[in-house]
Amino acid sequence: MSDSIILGIESSCDDTSAAVIRGNKILSNIAANQEIHNEYGGVVPELASRAHQQNIIPVVQKSVRKANIQQKDICAVGFTRGPGLLGSLLVGTSFAKSLAMSLQVPLIEVNHLQAHILAHFIDDANLMPPKFPFLCLTVSGGHTMIVLVRDYFDMEIIGKTIDDAAGEAFDKIGKIFDLDYPAGPIVDRLAKEGNSSAFQFSKPRIDNYNYSFSGVKTSVLYFIQKEIHKNPDFIKENLRDLCASVQKTIVEILMHKLEKAANDLQVNEIAIAGGVSANSGLRQAMKDRAEKLGWNIYIPKFEYTTDNAAMIAMVAKLKFDRGEFADLSVSATARYDIEESFKKNSQILD
Ligand code: KG4
Ligand code: ZN
Repeated sequence: MSDSIILGIESSCDDTSAAVIRGNKILSNIAANQEIHNEYGGVVPELASRAHQQNIIPVVQKSVRKANIQQKDICAVGFTRGPGLLGSLLVGTSFAKSLAMSLQVPLIEVNHLQAHILAHFIDDANLMPPKFPFLCLTVSGGHTMIVLVRDYFDMEIIGKTIDDAAGEAFDKIGKIFDLDYPAGPIVDRLAKEGNSSAFQFSKPRIDNYNYSFSGVKTSVLYFIQKEIHKNPDFIKENLRDLCASVQKTIVEILMHKLEKAANDLQVNEIAIAGGVSANSGLRQAMKDRAEKLGWNIYIPKFEYTTDNAAMIAMVAKLKFDRGEFADLSVSATARYDIEESFKKNSQILD
């Protein structure tokens, strides 16, 4: 394992983040969150890329300072190539290219989803990293999928959402309840004080290991419209129970398919990754399965669940060790499947 110092840059959505890694140890992980989107109820792409432009230099400088290194110590620059918002990705991509060029070090492109999964291999992410092969439920604002991880660079998506992502469901349902964006963490907090059996919402019937969340959203919307008609204060009076019931429904949908996949494939190393893996209901459901089904579960530390550059630096480090570098002509890509990232996007240097 090399002990080279690598800088990672993440700018795929609304967090500008930079991190420094040495070996598998994170020396700094800095993020500037963009509060500007809260009032719009979602990320506004044009505002996001403008904020990335303002944030990127201070965030990188801060991460270098916090890591207690000099810029000249950096051996490679890793960046998120995709998937994400193109305007946001372009800011990180062009900054990473210019920095790599000026420092005369290799440039390494990273798939954001692969990074969410490989965040488990950061030294202090877990007590122990998962053992291959493992299943990783990757749940974020833009993606929901079950990935069979055979190795760092051998992953297969075995199921995914056919419509909304789980985080999107939390955010959209939270919007119905008039909560700020992103609503996921707020629903989680309120759910802790509510009764999760107070209300029932419909669950989808979808083939294989795939997911669907748009039906839950519609079922909540119709239910609320009906109740508000009878009592205009219905949401206010029942907010905690509503949040707890919604959270329970989403978590049950997620766990049902994960359990089916684990059972069919006879895998009992099970991980979760992505922003929604911060959810306390999902974490508890994983712990219950560990007890009941004997799963070995892997739940990363909070700071490595939502978007962060530490996970980008982690993948960059693994690619650095393989000599897998990107050309300076590499471009950001809004759509970027995990499987696609194992094809010939990077040069393998002997
Ligand atoms: O991975 P992430 O930071 O960004 C994407 O790549 O999408 O995930 C953000 C998503 C948002 O939808 C947010 O509401 C959700 O993760 N989220 C949560 C929690 N924390 C973040 N959802 C439920 N419970 C949480 N505690
Ligand atoms: Zn993400």
